Amino acid sequence: MPDKTEEAIQKSTDYYNSSDTDNYYRAIWGGESIHVGIFDQPGISIRDAARRAVTYLAGRLDSIGPDKTVIDLGSGFGGPIRQLVTDYGCKGVALNASALELTAMAKFNEAEGLADKITPLEGNYEDIPMEDAQVDIAWSQEAFLHCGDRAKLMREVFRILKPSGEFVFADPMATPTAPAEVLQPMLDRANLVSFGTVEGYLADAKAAGFEDRGYEDRTEDFLTNYRTIVAETRARHDELKQEISEAFLEKIGNGMQYWVDGGEAGHMVWGSFHFVKPA
Ligand SMILES: C[S@@+](CC[C@H](N)C(=O)[O-])C[C@H]1O[C@@H](n2cnc3c(N)ncnc32)[C@H](O)[C@@H]1O
Repeated sequence: MPDKTEEAIQKSTDYYNSSDTDNYYRAIWGGESIHVGIFDQPGISIRDAARRAVTYLAGRLDSIGPDKTVIDLGSGFGGPIRQLVTDYGCKGVALNASALELTAMAKFNEAEGLADKITPLEGNYEDIPMEDAQVDIAWSQEAFLHCGDRAKLMREVFRILKPSGEFVFADPMATPTAPAEVLQPMLDRANLVSFGTVEGYLADAKAAGFEDRGYEDRTEDFLTNYRTIVAETRARHDELKQEISEAFLEKIGNGMQYWVDGGEAGHMVWGSFHFVKPA
């Protein structure tokens, strides 16, 4: 029986290294990012909302600029790290478990002239292939839902941060009272082992040694995000099925609707955390 970390990483890489997953996220999520957007303007596109989420999360940091190195944990196609490097002049490290996505990211980085500012790193955020105290900022959007052992994750992030380093992330989470039978189809839609909870992340971060700078709930954005994604998936079904299997489209369409239903029923929340490693 594999341990929690091995099972989670296997399920995650199976999911993201599949061409159906890859084609679907590129087509639906604006091409460069796969995270919940900030829908604070009427009619905003999924792509623009995704960019606003990066700006929102960066706004939670005390400081980001040319003297900082940021690691994006679970970096996808690299949309967030490219935006950070471009907007704030920082240096980037993009850690991802999916080799397929890292290859796609390298092409985007090259095309945008950012290849020398972003270091790709293949690996698992529960066992980061990096020496201690190397980065100023640890960052993540919608990647820790794939985690097998969140206490281990927190210890790893603490280890690679420099003293006074900052850690911000956003993630969809279950509420502590969410029934297991409601959560299971929600987990199945993205090959997940378990959801985190706000309370669990706060406790694991504290145990790892972090100072807590506050959790901000933005569940309304999560709901708007997934309602928009479900509608877009249905509206573009005939176009999507040219490149993506019908079985995948059926599973993901239904699965995302479970996420909307779960959120509306109060079983899911979404928001951002800010932690600091003591000096
Ligand atoms: C929903 S996508 C988010 C991608 C990116 N953060 C963004 O906002 O566009 C989740 C990402 O986490 C990565 N991932 C999942 N489990 C991981 C792990 N244990 N270590 C590193 N990356 C992981 C996946 O390969 C995928 O790129």
